Amino acid sequence: MTLAKIPLAGVIGSPIAHSKSPALHTHWLKSLGIAGHYVPLDVAQDDLENVVRTLPKMGFVGANVTVPYKEQVMSMADLVTDRAALIGSANTLIFRKDGKIHADNTDGYGFIQNLRQKAPDWNPKAGPAAVLGAGGAARAVIAALLDAGVPEILLSNRTKPRAEQLRADFGQRLTVVDWVQAGNMLEEATTVVNTTSLGMVGKPALRVPLDGLQKGALVTDLVYAPLVTDFLNTANQAGCITVDGLGMLLHQAVPAFERWFGVRPEVTNETRTAVLR
Ligand code: ATR
Repeated sequence: MTLAKIPLAGVIGSPIAHSKSPALHTHWLKSLGIAGHYVPLDVAQDDLENVVRTLPKMGFVGANVTVPYKEQVMSMADLVTDRAALIGSANTLIFRKDGKIHADNTDGYGFIQNLRQKAPDWNPKAGPAAVLGAGGAARAVIAALLDAGVPEILLSNRTKPRAEQLRADFGQRLTVVDWVQAGNMLEEATTVVNTTSLGMVGKPALRVPLDGLQKGALVTDLVYAPLVTDFLNTANQAGCITVDGLGMLLHQAVPAFERWFGVRPEVTNETRTAVLR
């Protein structure tokens, strides 16, 4: 009798000890009764390409990629999906049986699915979206919002040229607003997203004035430590519908897990608890 190979997956980054992905995928593997493993892979810059090319030979069916390698791994892939190319980075690698490496980005998908699950009445077409920040995470959010049909995106970032670059990449539906004016763009917005690291444990507070937030607007923060940020608290008090950022992490993992292990996992309250533990 030949025993089936045990499928392996992991998350490549540096540092990686803080990643919640091992807890998430391990929870799904166990609860779905799949004999596989998912591990953190702390990889040095100089070893990245070697590691990526060696993992499939060791039984890995794929890997997630996080800071600081999300852009770099794209050059190692045989195929880059359209959405990864548009976003300019990959968070998921699939090691195919034919030896080919596929690179995808599921962050934007995770962002939208989180909103759909937690705020089912949210209508992206209802009005402009205001986005704070223009880093890698903002690129995924903007691609996803445009795809969902938002009529206009008001974008503000401390370093303005980064926001202008996004406008050049994503086009006319983006309007760049000065960082000192960021509070003003909230007055029109029916969707508001913080993609900066401000408000995260150990980072400075988000100082953008929030009195312009409109009642009923959908407000979400990509920061999930703390789970309820000051930004979400203020929005809640202003009568906005708020969604925390943990769900984006959970939902971005769904298509990857399905591709690697052949079963589509569900994001439930139990999933959240397992990851927060
Ligand atoms: P990520 O991939 O998570 O988006 P990033 O590319 O480093 O990470 O982007 C971090 C975002 O947080 C950027 O929009 C950054 O603004 P800059 O482009 O001006 O750096 C924003 N950010 C981080 N610290 C900030 C601070 N102290 N004030 C304002 N914005 C800040």
